[in-house]
Amino acid sequence: MLDPDAVAEAERQFSVCNACRYCEGFCAVFPAAEARTAFAGGDIAYLANLCHDCRMCFDACPFTPPHEYAVNIPQLLAAARTQTYERYGWPRAFARLLRVPAAGTASIAALALVVLVGAAVASGGTAAFFAPHAGPGAFYRVFSFAALVSGALLLTAFGLLAIAMGAVAFARDIGLPKFSAPAFARATHEAFALVYLRGGGAGCYDERRGSSSRRLMHGFVFWGFLAAFASTTAAGIEQDVLGILPPFPLLSVPVVLGVVGGVAILAGAAGLIVLKSRSDPAPQSTRMIVLDYTFLAVLALVALSGLLLLALRSTAAMGSLLGIHLALLVALYLTAPYGKFVHFVYRYLSLVKHAQEARTSQSASNGGSHP
Ligand code: HEM
Ligand code: SF4
Ligand code: SF4
Repeated sequence: MLDPDAVAEAERQFSVCNACRYCEGFCAVFPAAEARTAFAGGDIAYLANLCHDCRMCFDACPFTPPHEYAVNIPQLLAAARTQTYERYGWPRAFARLLRVPAAGTASIAALALVVLVGAAVASGGTAAFFAPHAGPGAFYRVFSFAALVSGALLLTAFGLLAIAMGAVAFARDIGLPKFSAPAFARATHEAFALVYLRGGGAGCYDERRGSSSRRLMHGFVFWGFLAAFASTTAAGIEQDVLGILPPFPLLSVPVVLGVVGGVAILAGAAGLIVLKSRSDPAPQSTRMIVLDYTFLAVLALVALSGLLLLALRSTAAMGSLLGIHLALLVALYLTAPYGKFVHFVYRYLSLVKHAQEARTSQSASNGGSHP
């Protein structure tokens, strides 16, 4: 459930929209709002994550501040989205701890760095930490294999469990109906194509607000992330199934996927940071801006430290760079269920619900025309 004040304010603004209806063809949000006569917290959570923040309705609206109706739908829904990340975050105490996301993420990364470097120096000594290492298993001469593998498994299990718990609570609150394959297929297409970030689909709007650049940069980050994930999976298979220890050759599957993913993430995150710094703050939520910058910075730093580690892996800087890269990954994993990263889960579930609602209303209208 979202904050009652946020629900009341959403109800007020959407009552203006439902009377006006000018934006009903822009995106999925307005028809979904029109279909509701009263709003519960789950409805706002659904609408908030259905909004793709193209900001077209803000530009079109004659009732934005300083008009007395003070309608600002993109800002209202972005603020509500930040509430969903906190309200559905599990365990809730962790979500609350990250209310100051930039400081929280930086503290986790700093603490992880101290623990990792401390453990490496305590077990192998300072000389080994700062010495160059080469050949199979070089990384494990600095950081213990058992500690790295068990730490990675624990973090992954925690991240997946926390995200799954949040997703279940969110799905229950928005009233996600039973599984329907066509709805999942439609939602998957809409998620991959970021259909509603196009802003009405007319095209001309994209140029003015830069939404097409945002979609392109988002594509770099999204596909880069998937490539980096595939790289880690391939590395795990090479090591644990085929018995080939890292560092892997430059022309191996894990390294090629890692480089492609790392460069794409870096380019996309840098592009999104530039676009954000140039965009009009009026239709945005300050809290969401902070979450965006924090996530973009962590993603870019993870990618940059990974690429630097690859470039300098046979030098004396390997131990320090590996420590920094791992500490940033710990921060990324631990904050993922409560920060901007989790948007893809709530957005996807909202798209599924929207696809199901669209099917229900279509079959109802078909039934009406063919009694
Ligand atoms: C179901 C899949 C996904 C969907 C539907 C989706 C959708 C969106 C949308 C609509 C936005 C713009 C509005 C907003 O800022 O919330 C956005 C922003 C963002 N997404 Fe995604 N996303 C998905 C997956 C991912 C993944 C896997 C990543 C990378 C790990 C990612 C990274 C980002 C970043 C960094 C931003 C901030 C962009 C900015 O600052 O303007 N997204 N996403
Ligand atoms: S955002 Fe403004 S123009 Fe659009 S439907 Fe609402 S009140 Fe009308
Ligand atoms: S910002 Fe774009 S996606 Fe969000 S409600 Fe307005 S028109 Fe729809």
